[in-house]
Amino acid sequence: MVNKIAIIGGGNMGGALVKGWVKAGMASSLTVTAHTQQTLDRLNEACPGITAMLDNKKAVEEADVVVLAVKPWLVEQVITEIMPELKGKLLISVAAGVRHERIDVYVMPNIAAEFGESMTFVEEAEKAEQAAELFGRVGQCKVVPQRLMGAGMMMAGCGIAYVMRFLRAMMEGGVEMGFYPDEAKEIAMQTMQGAISLLEETGLHPEAAIDKVTTPGGITIKGLNELDHAAFNSAVIRCLKAGLK
Ligand SMILES: NC(=O)c1ccc[n+]([C@@H]2O[C@H](COP(=O)([O-])OP(=O)(O)OC[C@H]3O[C@@H](n4cnc5c(N)ncnc54)[C@H](OP(=O)(O)O)[C@@H]3O)[C@@H](O)[C@H]2O)c1
Repeated sequence: MVNKIAIIGGGNMGGALVKGWVKAGMASSLTVTAHTQQTLDRLNEACPGITAMLDNKKAVEEADVVVLAVKPWLVEQVITEIMPELKGKLLISVAAGVRHERIDVYVMPNIAAEFGESMTFVEEAEKAEQAAELFGRVGQCKVVPQRLMGAGMMMAGCGIAYVMRFLRAMMEGGVEMGFYPDEAKEIAMQTMQGAISLLEETGLHPEAAIDKVTTPGGITIKGLNELDHAAFNSAVIRCLKAGLK
């Protein structure tokens, strides 16, 4: 049986979770709240069958599981507001970098949850498995110790943005070489999808996959070496570690 879930804050992340869970067939179990009616109207339109309301306390009162998806600086205030209704309920937070004694499980999903493709990290805790079961319905889920939550957030939560930058860079190169932007986007995306399929199907290490497309003295190695001269690997590693400072 699916629990009744209240998502407090139906913005980018909360909205993506709602849409993902709706696609997983859970619409009738979901109640979402927001600060403005416009956000609720948008969600109602996109997700028939959900319940949307401005009243956080009422949403929590009727739920078994509460997912906090407001901005980090609102977490304390919202928990204080819903505290009287929280007794016996599982409180999950997806807010980055905020800790509170009442939160049962810290979870770091990404917005691909909307398409059932999130890479989600669940922090080890007594009720982590319950949260992992729920977030496993909108993508892949890893239960990790607290020390790895920041790394997970950088690789997967923020990682979506870094992958977008790589795709944009490929597009800009493609346009400079003569493709229209839409064609360049299609080419870059399909190439990335092909690379992912190659790794998924073969289980190869990326460097072994690179060997398969690199002819000695050929053109692929010339491009790869340009990336090295521009410190591409180092830039990616520094990018991922920047948010941990
Ligand atoms: N975006 C990501 O990729 C991502 C990934 C992982 C984790 N997170 C975490 O998710 C949280 C939300 O981020 P976001 O990007 O989704 O922000 P967002 O788009 O601004 O969404 C926040 C939502 O909270 C609603 N809200 C504001 N005050 C509220 C209140 N008092 N009660 C109920 N709802 C309220 C807003 O309503 P209105 O729309 O009506 O203003 C909005 O829908 C953050 O803590 C962030 O760290 C985000």
